[in-house]
Amino acid sequence: MAPYVFRIRILWITVLTLFIPVVSTKYRKPNIVFLLTDDQDVKLGGQTPMTKTKNLVGDKGIIFENMYVSAPLCCPSRSSILTGKYVHSNGAVNNSLTGNCSSPYWQRTQEVKAFPTYLKGQGYSTFFAGKYLNQYGTPMAGGVQHVPPGWDWWIGLVGNSKYYNYHLSVNGTLEVHKDDPKTDYLTDVIVSQSPPPLTDVINRRATSFLSLQNSDSAPFFMMLSTPACHGPFTPAPKYQNNFPNKTAPRDGSYNKHGHDKHWLIQQAITPLPNDTVKSEDQVFRNRWRTLLSVDDMMENIVNILQTKNLLENTYIVFSSDNGFHLGQFSMPSDKRQLYEFDVRVPLMIRGPNVTAGRVVKEQVMNIDLAPTFLEMAGLPSTPGQMDGLSLAPFFSSASNQTWGRSTILVEHQGEYHENTPGCPQFRRQNMANCNNHCVCEDSWNNTYSCVIKRESAVSPSQPGRRVKYCLFKDNQNFQEMYNLDMDPYEFKNLAVTLPEDKKKVYLNLIEHMEMCSGESCHV
Ligand SMILES: *[C@@H]1O[C@H](CO)[C@@H](O)[C@H](O)[C@H]1NC(C)=O
Ligand SMILES: *[C@@H]1O[C@H](CO)[C@@H](O)[C@H](O)[C@H]1NC(C)=O
Ligand SMILES: *[C@@H]1O[C@H](CO)[C@@H](O)[C@H](O)[C@H]1NC(C)=O
Ligand SMILES: *[C@@H]1O[C@H](CO)[C@@H](O)[C@H](O)[C@H]1NC(C)=O
Ligand SMILES: *[C@@H]1O[C@H](CO)[C@@H](O)[C@H](O)[C@H]1NC(C)=O
Ligand SMILES: *[C@@H]1O[C@H](CO)[C@@H](O)[C@H](O)[C@H]1NC(C)=O
Repeated sequence: MAPYVFRIRILWITVLTLFIPVVSTKYRKPNIVFLLTDDQDVKLGGQTPMTKTKNLVGDKGIIFENMYVSAPLCCPSRSSILTGKYVHSNGAVNNSLTGNCSSPYWQRTQEVKAFPTYLKGQGYSTFFAGKYLNQYGTPMAGGVQHVPPGWDWWIGLVGNSKYYNYHLSVNGTLEVHKDDPKTDYLTDVIVSQSPPPLTDVINRRATSFLSLQNSDSAPFFMMLSTPACHGPFTPAPKYQNNFPNKTAPRDGSYNKHGHDKHWLIQQAITPLPNDTVKSEDQVFRNRWRTLLSVDDMMENIVNILQTKNLLENTYIVFSSDNGFHLGQFSMPSDKRQLYEFDVRVPLMIRGPNVTAGRVVKEQVMNIDLAPTFLEMAGLPSTPGQMDGLSLAPFFSSASNQTWGRSTILVEHQGEYHENTPGCPQFRRQNMANCNNHCVCEDSWNNTYSCVIKRESAVSPSQPGRRVKYCLFKDNQNFQEMYNLDMDPYEFKNLAVTLPEDKKKVYLNLIEHMEMCSGESCHV
């Protein structure tokens, strides 16, 4: 027997050595760069200052105009991005540990099946730098020693977005940063520092990682997650005086009262107090300024990829975790609301075989990113637990888009504290994020689910309308409905006059979506 086995082995070795070089020169898995910003809206011009990103990514690829998030809040949305699952499926309902934001339970049950773990299985070299989940790195979440599975290079910000004076976990070791603009600005660019100093931050770290990549190394996945343009909205020194006269947009629902909306919106003061207007305008300018550093980072990444001859085989994906408002329906400034400005974000994708210069109007979501990355990396099918769908069918203009979903779900669980310092009228009222006029952005019963549905076409020339229908979990079962085609600013709440039998159809759909998982979410 032995010589026979031996001969088969030799035969196999011959076959393998003949095949391996041919296969490997013919196809190399694509690299993927994913740049995620924090709180960047798309409805109020949040993308406008990022002209380089528009040129280098959007115009060279696809702009998705109707990109939604599963929740208008950082940690739930980010948890959805990582797992490819709706909020009700992955369980991270708010920004607290008790709401499973980076909780040990979430790490044990969800993080172990997040998309980076599959990329590792596909032979990818993986890199993360920036804000992860709001509770990441805190003692109860495992401290800086906790490096989420699937990441080779790990540069994770402890806690929520900051620009200076923060802690990082660098491969599980604490690195303390102060406020030297030259070395500590978290988003910052490489500028003229070469070789990069040891204290380099997101962009500089990314640069060091990319310097090691070439067309013979393993394919890589790089996720860059900036604090911009989240509060405290600190621009880099070189941009602190840009846009001196720019003000928040005054169109649409700016400074209008949401008289037919949920009570939380109705507590807003209209017209907006002058000091609120002033502070919103300042926040608006500073958000744009912080984004200029992100735009520089994108340019830097693209330049490096080009120099290293890697650009053609690299997908670049740009998005944000949730939107933002500044004075819409007279609400001061924050997210957490069900309107388009808070639940829609930018999405642009360029890469191999992505037809350039297209705008897609189909409704897509943050839960679709994980399945998309996995298809890019060659995984034969989306893992069954993921609720999202790969966006690859949109990449080629030739493919006749077989998009298997007309309904998406947005879920928010209102955050609250028992008392509100400085607002005695809200004692024991369970409100949150109140400003100096005691106008609050959240409350225990600002808890809702919305379906956003493209209804069936009336005729081939008349596509179905896009409708948003929302149900609050408060003690009046408050409902809101908007026709997004006819009323893009969501002025008129159609639920007020909708007959009960028509309401029932939407309420049944919400009930189905709130319990959906994997396939059953694709309706
Ligand atoms: C968070 O995880 C715990 C398990 O520790 C689970 O029982 C709980 O339902 C989760 N919380 C939420 C709000 O989903
Ligand atoms: C982090 O870990 C990766 C993978 O082991 C390694 O290549 C890299 O040099 C490490 N980075 C730092 C800053 O220690
Ligand atoms: C901003 O406004 C001031 C005062 O109205 C004016 O002097 C200045 O030229 C404006 N700056 C820009 C860049 O438009
Ligand atoms: C607020 O600003 C407007 C326009 O600048 C001004 O007419 C009004 O008097 C101001 N209101 C207060 C209370 O200062
Ligand atoms: C691009 O399309 C070509 C032709 O269909 C295919 O061979 C190649 O694998 C594709 N590249 C990627 C990265 O999908
Ligand atoms: C987050 O959700 C958990 C679980 O529902 C809840 O106990 C906690 O109070 C919430 N945190 C805030 C700030 O609302």
